[in-house]
Amino acid sequence: MSTPSELLADIERVGKDHGRGGYSRHVFDTPEHELREWFVEQAARRGLEVVPDGNGNLWAWWSGPGVAGPGDGAVATGSHLDSVPGGGEFDGPLGVASALAAVDKLRAEGFRPARPLALVVFAEEEGGRFGLPCLGSRLAAGTVAPERVLGLRDDSGTTLAEAMRAAGKNPDHTGPDESNLARVSRFLELHVEQGRGLVHRQRPVGVASTMLAHGRWRFRFTGQGNHAGATPLGDRRDPMLPASLLVAEARRVAAGYEDARATVGRIQPVPSGTNVIAASVDLWLDARAHTDADTRGMVDELHRRAGVLAAEEGCSIRLSEESYSDTVSFDGPLRDELTAMLDAPELPTGAGHDAGVLAARMPTGMLFVRNPTGISHAPEEYAEPADCDAGAEALATVLRRWTR
Ligand code: GLV
Ligand code: MN
Ligand code: MN
Ligand code: MN
Repeated sequence: MSTPSELLADIERVGKDHGRGGYSRHVFDTPEHELREWFVEQAARRGLEVVPDGNGNLWAWWSGPGVAGPGDGAVATGSHLDSVPGGGEFDGPLGVASALAAVDKLRAEGFRPARPLALVVFAEEEGGRFGLPCLGSRLAAGTVAPERVLGLRDDSGTTLAEAMRAAGKNPDHTGPDESNLARVSRFLELHVEQGRGLVHRQRPVGVASTMLAHGRWRFRFTGQGNHAGATPLGDRRDPMLPASLLVAEARRVAAGYEDARATVGRIQPVPSGTNVIAASVDLWLDARAHTDADTRGMVDELHRRAGVLAAEEGCSIRLSEESYSDTVSFDGPLRDELTAMLDAPELPTGAGHDAGVLAARMPTGMLFVRNPTGISHAPEEYAEPADCDAGAEALATVLRRWTR
């Protein structure tokens, strides 16, 4: 029987990013592949039957006696193993490790589920490699079309289809996954909290209430590449100028909306040389707010500002939406059931999760485990072993109830 912390210790060395700090585990790369193999082995040790789907997700089934097939009311829990660049140890893997630990607890007490239980690992939740978060769950749920994503490229120019082939997967098999999803009647994701809500409430475990609307947009500023020394200031069309001013505008605009966030975490000048005026600059905006209207309102406002800033420098601008997820309010009755069963507080989240994708499809809930630093997507993300145990215990409590 393993605790979540013991399971995380098993994979602690995989994908450590010695340059940036933290972990860089991107879908279908070597560290993420190693984590998948680890999960398959852990599932097999527990007698679970691992069935990879066509979308890069892994399903490990603990089937109830004599029940299988569509409509059998299965329950699923899980999370992801990929990370952002230089991310923390817990975002994703804690949900997977806790699912394994919960199975251990149930097995140790001789529990046999009357309904099938699946542990799921979703692919590319962070969008860290191909830019589209929750890629595996969106493909499975049919909310994104394979044609739209198979040609997405990573930083080295490799397409998703090529990366899948290199990982031994057939990209022709991507798309809606009814063989798994039609079986499942409820989904629960456990996750490290990405904030200090549970610290303030002095509680180890909480239940998610809502998720902000959020998306990613790429602003491409195009100017004229030129010589940094030979080009007088008045002769420049430098796309870096409007791009950098837009970073400050993002903060200013978001501050005008209630509890909204706008972030530029990635900016890419082309060709990127110290003595070169860039020819173009790609800038990625991550914008989030309570409502679709506020989120889109911020982006519209920033699009207009980008146009003015670009024109002032003789540059042009092109905006493309790379991903979008509307506000999620997790299933009310299920939330009530979880808060009562676990005597746990509710709290909202500003992060995106596969649970948000599945929530459109079936009653879905999330459990959060206290994070004393409140930091996430950075090496300082943390959860105490005792709180991780409390999370796995809470997960086992719910799974026992739901599968009996
Ligand atoms: C993923 O964790 C996100 O919310 O960006
Ligand atoms: Mn994350
Ligand atoms: Mn996550
Ligand atoms: Mn996430």
